[in-house]
Amino acid sequence: MAGASTLSSYSTTSPAKATASVLVLAAADSTVLGLAGAKAAKTALDDAARAIGFSGKAGSTARVPAPKGIAADSVLLVGLGDYDADDSDVAATAESLRRGAGAALRALDGAESIALALPAATPAEVEAVTVGAGLGAYRFLDYRSEDRTPGVITVIGPKGKTFAAAHGAGEVIAAATNRARDLVNTPPLDLYPESYAEIVKDQAKDRKLKVTVLGEKELRAGGYGGIIGVGQGSTRGPRLVKVEYAPRGAKRHLSFVGKGITFDSGGISLKPAKSMEDMKSDMAGSAAVVQALFGIADLKLPVRVTAWLPLAENMPGSSAQRPSDVLKMRSGKTVEVTNTDAEGRLVLADALTDAGEENPDLLIDVATLTGAQIVALGERTSGVMGSETARAEVIASASVAGEQMWAMPIPEEMLSGFDSTAADLTNSGPRPGGMLAAAAFLREFVGEDANWAHIDIAGPSFNGSAPFGYTPKAATGAAVRTLIEIAKAQA
Ligand code: BES
Ligand code: MN
Ligand code: ZN
Repeated sequence: MAGASTLSSYSTTSPAKATASVLVLAAADSTVLGLAGAKAAKTALDDAARAIGFSGKAGSTARVPAPKGIAADSVLLVGLGDYDADDSDVAATAESLRRGAGAALRALDGAESIALALPAATPAEVEAVTVGAGLGAYRFLDYRSEDRTPGVITVIGPKGKTFAAAHGAGEVIAAATNRARDLVNTPPLDLYPESYAEIVKDQAKDRKLKVTVLGEKELRAGGYGGIIGVGQGSTRGPRLVKVEYAPRGAKRHLSFVGKGITFDSGGISLKPAKSMEDMKSDMAGSAAVVQALFGIADLKLPVRVTAWLPLAENMPGSSAQRPSDVLKMRSGKTVEVTNTDAEGRLVLADALTDAGEENPDLLIDVATLTGAQIVALGERTSGVMGSETARAEVIASASVAGEQMWAMPIPEEMLSGFDSTAADLTNSGPRPGGMLAAAAFLREFVGEDANWAHIDIAGPSFNGSAPFGYTPKAATGAAVRTLIEIAKAQA
């Protein structure tokens, strides 16, 4: 798989002296920021911005020839909206820088060399600009004949070790997110459980991390009824992949579980064509958890992390499970499959059982689980359910990382919607509050007192609308940054 991310280097030169084909500067209203030492050039650019009616609206860009006193060939102005350097909301300020850098890089298809001089005054802000630039530079080119990647990128910021380190961390975070995007964007003809497991093995080997892959035989022998049931309608069998990062001296243990349906046709309960178009993205949860683990390892954070990836292709082959079949799950519970399109919870349940048995300090699953998530919270805000402390930890880290996540309840009455006439549970519960119902089902496979959170990323993982900020069309890499931030917060 091509590493489609373009990574940047860090420089402390003054913006006016940076040699590049494009110098990126921020503008708020019609005032260009960050040219304190170059008065004449700043006046010329302020005039140019006013002349072309550049509003400084968040995400807007305009490219103008460089005035005298600027070493670069051209200047790309990027709007930061109502950006205020003295804003006390640190997370909001970092996010406007991340988005500004992202919007700039998205606008620079094929530019030869780019120097970014956004107003980053703290290490966290330098990290934010670096992440935004790395994410905005992402292009998925594996299946295209034409290259469009922006060229060499330099992030300009203050002098000092902490700033250089923050740039390095930003690089790792952007690369991890872009690797998750690559996996999600890869068509299911090429990304299926076996090939996916191979990619994870290779990437783990580069980092000297331990990987265990259970194949079909082992899954059957181990009683993983959920993973086997979902995978049996495809000629390409399921896998359960476990990746471990266990640095010496780690005190806390995080476990991540990610839904890995490499294509969700719905199975025998077949989806209509329109609903199937983007279902290569139904493994986005697994991509997020494994790439977050690799990012955490690359950052050498002193936390133990285990990632569990239940991988299956949900297809309606003649050996597929049928509505009314009963599965014996890994935990021993039985589930009547009333709808084969509610497959995510089946594979997650088995992986959650294994993950929970290790008694991690924090257990988080990430999944493109329900269309109901999109109805409830829209395309950009993930729903977070689970125990109160785990949920709060996720929400707090999401806000630092600049990802929109919102706490949702698991109402007591949800579970009775899964009553079955044949088994312990059915797999498809009530339609109203479908996202919450799915969480109630998952909770049946997580120990009562586990510190557990479930993140439904159905909408946020795949952008079907216009690109914005650092978010492209298609795969977004949702949840990677939040998971890395959670590990940072523990360290
Ligand atoms: N993968 C889908 C959920 C989904 C929908 C993700 C849209 C991204 C965008 C999931 O497997 C599914 O089909 N869920 C069903 C559950 C229902 C049958 C209980 C749904 O949401 O309709
Ligand atoms: Mn489904
Ligand atoms: Zn699905």
